[in-house]
Amino acid sequence: MIYLDRNENNYGPAPACFEVLKKADLTKLSWYTKAYSRGVKSILSERLAKEFDIPESRVVLGYGAEDLLKQAVQCYLGKGEKLMIPTHSWWYYKKIADEVDGINVEYPLVPNGETFEYDIDALFEKYDKEKPKMVFISSPNNPTGNSISQENLIKVLEKLQDAIIILDEAYFYNVMNETVRNLVNSYPNLLVIRTFSKYYALAGMRIGFGLLGENLAQLNKYTNRYLGYHRISEEVALAALDSPDYYLDIADKMDSDRKMFFTELNKIPGFTAYKSNANFILVEIPDEIQADLKEFLKSKGLVVKFMNEELLNHHLRITLGTQEENKLLIDAIKEFAANNLS
Ligand SMILES: Cc1ncc(COP(=O)(O)O)c(C=O)c1O
Repeated sequence: MIYLDRNENNYGPAPACFEVLKKADLTKLSWYTKAYSRGVKSILSERLAKEFDIPESRVVLGYGAEDLLKQAVQCYLGKGEKLMIPTHSWWYYKKIADEVDGINVEYPLVPNGETFEYDIDALFEKYDKEKPKMVFISSPNNPTGNSISQENLIKVLEKLQDAIIILDEAYFYNVMNETVRNLVNSYPNLLVIRTFSKYYALAGMRIGFGLLGENLAQLNKYTNRYLGYHRISEEVALAALDSPDYYLDIADKMDSDRKMFFTELNKIPGFTAYKSNANFILVEIPDEIQADLKEFLKSKGLVVKFMNEELLNHHLRITLGTQEENKLLIDAIKEFAANNLS
């Protein structure tokens, strides 16, 4: 089976990551890191601090972006306090406030022609009414694929100064370290979260990191692991950071396949593909073909995500695979459409 349903990166990590594993010093499995004696959390937090040019104390590490979202909520959201999330979002966003007996409120993300958009005025209205303690913005957003524009992001950060803003950039598609540094240096209540799972194709390693605005020092203490992190995984992550060309090549291939899916899927009667900046694309399809299309793709060994949510229940979310996998999928969808749609 070819899995194109979970937003993983089917190209796999850079060869240098495998080299680290082959040559790993196994004594590291038995001994704690001594990074602490140097006043830093780990070799990875130290490196990320250099990459983003911010103090190491403002880099936090976690077991994926999922874990950092969870820890931030556990650290800051009290019982009965509100977390504001986009209406269309990663399913876990809808559960997370409940983990601390907080209250989930939603602000609209709306389709506008070829793309979904953050509706900033509606977000502000909701913010003024609900007064949430925390707000999540996901850019690019899962499953809609759209990003928030830099201009709108700044507007949000300027207006929402009383809340803690989490900008989830799990699906960042170009590195833009300087932009992120400027943001966390300018907005003290901002936490930017990234992960090695998507761009770096290391989902199984479970490494995420966050960059903290100046008011969020408490989260650094909260997430701290005094005995360190997974030493070999950290070395793999460093090897990924040292392989920019490998990842830029994948980003280029994904860019061209994203365009290909957008153009080809929009030619099919009844299909609407939305513009995406992520490693997946959302497509609205006619209700009546859902079950048959699912079966047909399965018979070809292809698995995509048929959405089953209140607001998105006649939609597919296609994770971009390798170029060969993407070709198999688009050919299969076209074959199905030729025989079933006119
Ligand atoms: C928007 C979003 N944020 C975070 C994550 C979690 O990423 P990680 O693998 O780093 O935990 C996902 C996973 O699919 C996601 O869709």
